[in-house]
Amino acid sequence: MKEVQRMLYGGDYNPNQWGEEIWAEDMRIFKQAAINSATINVFSWAKIQPSEEIYDFDQLDKIVEMLSKENYEIVLGTATAALPAWMFKKYPEVGRVDFEGRRHRFGQRHNACPNSLVYQKYVARLVEKLAERYGDNPNVAVWHVNNEYGGECYCENCEKAFRVWLQNKYQTIEALNAAWNFDFWGHTVYEWDEIVVPNVLGDAMSYDSTAFAGLSIDYRRFVSDSLLENFKLERDCIRKFDQSTPITTNMMGSYKGLDYFKWAKEMDLVSWDSYPSYNTPWSYVALTHDLMRGLKDQPFMLMEMTPSQQNWQPYNSLKKPGQLRAQSYQTVAHGADTIQYFQMRRTKGGCEKFHGAVIEHVGTENTRVFREVAELGLELAALQDKILDAKTTSDVALVFDWDNYWALEYTSGPNKDLKYVDQIHQFYRYFYDQNISVDFVPFDADFSKYKVVVAPVLYMIKEDMAERLEDFVASGGTFVTTFMSGIVDQSDNVHLGGYPGPLRKLAGVWVEEIDALAPEQRNTIMFNDETIGTTSLVSDIIHLEAAQSLGAYTDNFYATTPFATINKFGEGHTYYIGAQLDQASLTKVLTNVCTTAAVTPTIAEKTALEVSYREKAGKGFYFILNFTQETQPLPQIFAGKVDLLKNQALTQETTLAPFAVLLVEA
Ligand code: GLA
Ligand code: ZN
Repeated sequence: MKEVQRMLYGGDYNPNQWGEEIWAEDMRIFKQAAINSATINVFSWAKIQPSEEIYDFDQLDKIVEMLSKENYEIVLGTATAALPAWMFKKYPEVGRVDFEGRRHRFGQRHNACPNSLVYQKYVARLVEKLAERYGDNPNVAVWHVNNEYGGECYCENCEKAFRVWLQNKYQTIEALNAAWNFDFWGHTVYEWDEIVVPNVLGDAMSYDSTAFAGLSIDYRRFVSDSLLENFKLERDCIRKFDQSTPITTNMMGSYKGLDYFKWAKEMDLVSWDSYPSYNTPWSYVALTHDLMRGLKDQPFMLMEMTPSQQNWQPYNSLKKPGQLRAQSYQTVAHGADTIQYFQMRRTKGGCEKFHGAVIEHVGTENTRVFREVAELGLELAALQDKILDAKTTSDVALVFDWDNYWALEYTSGPNKDLKYVDQIHQFYRYFYDQNISVDFVPFDADFSKYKVVVAPVLYMIKEDMAERLEDFVASGGTFVTTFMSGIVDQSDNVHLGGYPGPLRKLAGVWVEEIDALAPEQRNTIMFNDETIGTTSLVSDIIHLEAAQSLGAYTDNFYATTPFATINKFGEGHTYYIGAQLDQASLTKVLTNVCTTAAVTPTIAEKTALEVSYREKAGKGFYFILNFTQETQPLPQIFAGKVDLLKNQALTQETTLAPFAVLLVEA
């Protein structure tokens, strides 16, 4: 496989929206920012195939030729994410049917029915032509398949394909009835063609709720698989002509719709688009990067971010001076090997005309945004390949599972405010604040290389996960889980015999009841050392079996029962947190976890700075970032070192202003 030998710096570039005189100007301006890559052809299907029988690559040839001459790394889009009008006109079935059951007409993008054979046929034809034409161009660095796969379709073709998917999964209709507990509400089906898609005309009660979670979860799996088949189709078409260029598609962080761990197995490398809002916590931005790094346990490409602002959020604030640089290095610190923007030149019409770009509407390099882009570009160029492909290692694993995400959020009761990613984030935030590196892992990961495995709200326990967690703890690991864990199997049927089901032995507790707290309600708690705290959202009523209590509720009718426990199991320990703890209380429990498991932060010194570490060829690199509002002192272990970005010696007196960044070799 081809490997890019430099850090890609560039982004989505749409010269087809402009006259050729502008292209030359673009090249001149980009050079000043050391831009070396361009993502092209992402939405050009209508341009390169003006009608069913005619393909026209003249303009794309010219663009590829120009970029090759300038020695760009080309990230070549396959153009399949927005269908041409002629296709809708002639074959209306290529459009999607939405959740309300409405067939969509020509419009917007990401609009193809994944199970339309017509769509698939034209995709395959186009992608083969592209691969044949450009696959051996040495400047084509990466294939960018489609764009941000997502959404769902509920058309007749999808319904038929779903029934086939179900037949493969369940073999018999009896097995399907059992899996979905179809005796409930008289749903028993006798023929495969009695099964209908779960949109609002069927078993869905709203977009987020359903009468039959087993069915709706299977539909989500099916949608994820259908789109993945679309990706694989394009990948395999490319591979017929080009065996060596890596193939990716751009993902969307914690996006709910696709099982990204499953997807990543089919991709050569992970790439993703990072668009935090003005008020997204930096811990959450870091979380999404670590999640994307975790998909393949490898560095990833940052495919898109904005150099300044977005257009599609409710409030599209500008990035403050210095923020672009700090945000970019945070991305690299958490595993990125590229920095790429959407977009290179700000479009003049359409809904993204207010989206930030490297070249803004004024059309020159004399802008604040361009100066910041150029400063960063020159700095990255000077770093050369020093940190390219550097690895991250962690003692702590956080389990992220899309099946669990879907199941937890479909569940009717106990509390509608319980959200999977929020739960993951509060645990992640603790480790982030402590500068403890975290790997995101799938449910079937090899846990043995970690000291701590954290699986909040592990509602769905499937396959042999409980046994593998038992092995992990028995041989000395520390496992942390919470309320709403161990409840259901892969079809959303309850593991009978007392919560937390298959985790009961490991946790050493029996949860008899689960209380829900409305937003205005709180419980009070007291740790064994008499520290006071509060809980909200959900409260388990716990009976100790083998576990010991960490503290008890002090009010409500279950006062004196434990809210959290620790259980010695073999050589290791399981922590069970039975309520939504306030931040200080969660910090207290997790500090206890880290002590038990001998997990230590990236640097020993206490600091409000973000400090991360990547390693390459025996060399270690610290990324030191200030995301606070105040100037911070330099952690003293770095005094006497050199900041590789500004080539400046660091002293005991060095301070970091807000958004300051240092890169230090260990
Ligand atoms: C997504 C898309 C891009 C563009 C940006 C705007 O990430 O992939 O085509 O629409 O959003 O933020
Ligand atoms: Zn469809």
